[in-house]
Amino acid sequence: MYASRAINRSLAPPDWLSINLTLRCNLSCVMCTTCYDAPELSRGEILDLVDQAATWGVKVFNPLGGEPFVRSDLEDILAHAARRDLYTTLTTNGTLITSARAARIAAIPVEKLHINLSIDGLEATHDGVRGKGTFQRTIAGYRRLRAADADAGNPRRKICANSILHAKNADEYLDLLAFLEAEGVSGVQVLHLFRSDEDADVGGMWFSPSDLPKLEALCAALAEHPLVMNRHALPLVPRYYREGLGPLEAPCWAGWKELYVNADGSVIMCDGKLDFLAGRYGSVREQTLRELWRSPALRARREVVKSCATPCIQACYLRTESDSATAIATGLAANLSAPLRARVARALPSRRVEGTLSLELTDTPDDPDHPRARALFSTSPVGIEACFLAPERLLDLRDRRYLDFGRGFLGAGVVAQVRDGLREARIRFRTVSLTWRGEPLLHPEFPEVWEAVQGIGEQVRVVTSGLLLREDHVSRLKSAEVWITGPAWAEPYTEQVTTRAASVGARRGRPAVDEIAPALSWDGHLTRRVGDTALAERLGDVLKEPLATIWSRYPLHR
Ligand SMILES: C[S@@+](CC[C@H](N)C(=O)[O-])C[C@H]1O[C@@H](n2cnc3c(N)ncnc32)[C@H](O)[C@@H]1O
Ligand code: SF4
Ligand code: SF4
Repeated sequence: MYASRAINRSLAPPDWLSINLTLRCNLSCVMCTTCYDAPELSRGEILDLVDQAATWGVKVFNPLGGEPFVRSDLEDILAHAARRDLYTTLTTNGTLITSARAARIAAIPVEKLHINLSIDGLEATHDGVRGKGTFQRTIAGYRRLRAADADAGNPRRKICANSILHAKNADEYLDLLAFLEAEGVSGVQVLHLFRSDEDADVGGMWFSPSDLPKLEALCAALAEHPLVMNRHALPLVPRYYREGLGPLEAPCWAGWKELYVNADGSVIMCDGKLDFLAGRYGSVREQTLRELWRSPALRARREVVKSCATPCIQACYLRTESDSATAIATGLAANLSAPLRARVARALPSRRVEGTLSLELTDTPDDPDHPRARALFSTSPVGIEACFLAPERLLDLRDRRYLDFGRGFLGAGVVAQVRDGLREARIRFRTVSLTWRGEPLLHPEFPEVWEAVQGIGEQVRVVTSGLLLREDHVSRLKSAEVWITGPAWAEPYTEQVTTRAASVGARRGRPAVDEIAPALSWDGHLTRRVGDTALAERLGDVLKEPLATIWSRYPLHR
């Protein structure tokens, strides 16, 4: 990224993709200038952008607005981003979150979706800025999110507050933090006002010179506060309001960190004066994200950023550490040493763990009689029976996103991360088994998962109903131990399944399973699996710590 900026070339994808899903909003906050009536991208167009970003290697999706919850398809978009392994940070005013919508959010894995609720003061101040009654509605939305996650048995989701620090809330800002802490928010992002030429005082929210001494003391206190997540810009804040902040005291990364799509599909960025619409450089309806990222039009815009003379404190675009020689050298050393460490790890002999590690690629079975499969088909334009009699249709519906798996799949990226961690710890299982409660061949990234599991076990076992066993699986599965358990319900396919099963040397039935064995569930939890179905105990979360670390606490098969 540093080199990208230095030579103004796109050497890496953006850190995140931002999309204004809409510019409509149910509120009209004093300081906000972003809402107006504008054409919007369709659900299909947005899902396509998410797909492009995921295949390109973008890691973070940032849906913005307007108010994202005014779109009724918001949850579909979020669920899709999660399935494509993007980490989503959703910013919302929270007032439209009903219990039903919170339940749909709770179906999205907590490690894939993080939420920021905008709260700009205690009740009277917040309502003064955002409208009467909005504070209670936002807090109610927050509590519904927490309750829905608890009902779904989810671990705690990262739900933070975005709180602008302004002249009307400075006196109560520490009390606001105490309130938010008591509510159990995960952290607070302190935002700083920007203003337009039309309203330089931002409805009385802008700090006046007489406020500045107390602002200085407050910023010092906030920089030490455990709930505050973004401390780096705080020392600059008093000078920002004193209008004594030099241009680009911290170098700006607008145009290198973020690809920002407006509601109508135009791609926009800061024009050097915080007017994003004036920085339009193309449209996603005319070019792919990658083409836009490499376009001469964006290069020209980036030149403006590099020489931007506007005193600015847009924390999202500041990357002070990127211009520190020590940070760059440390980062470079870490980047160079990682492949070396991986090579050394591969060269050293691994310890073989006698036993099986099961990976649950999904918990949805391809069995039309199973309640989860029936629930899945409740929104399908094609009935469940018709689909199971024509399995290609099932995959087609999955890929066209008519079937919302919602609860998701164990991402190929997570499997690769588990493999790398085990390699580094020099652990290899005798058998890695792609099975548990769901049908592994339903996984949309099966080839990538297949690639990754080779490094986890000496032997790969696949237990499948056989219904989705297709020609392109044959070459992969030939080297595996394959068990075919069905499909009893699709008579017309018995012959096809039998032929394909024979070509991969599959056995009929189910393998005997260890009575107690470790299994990684679709949402990344290492569990102690008892028998074939019961979930006895969660041992840890591989998205938070390496499997090998969890493993070292695990008493079996060591
Ligand atoms: C434009 S809103 C869109 C999302 C959603 N409607 C909300 O209010 O959270 C995104 C963020 O921008 C912040 N924001 C709006 N106007 C601002 C301003 N003049 N200065 C700084 N932040 C602002 C909001 O507080 C919110 O956290
Ligand atoms: S809720 Fe968000 S988008 Fe709507 S007016 Fe307020 S800050 Fe702007
Ligand atoms: S420093 Fe601020 S005004 Fe200048 S380009 Fe970056 S975001 Fe825009």
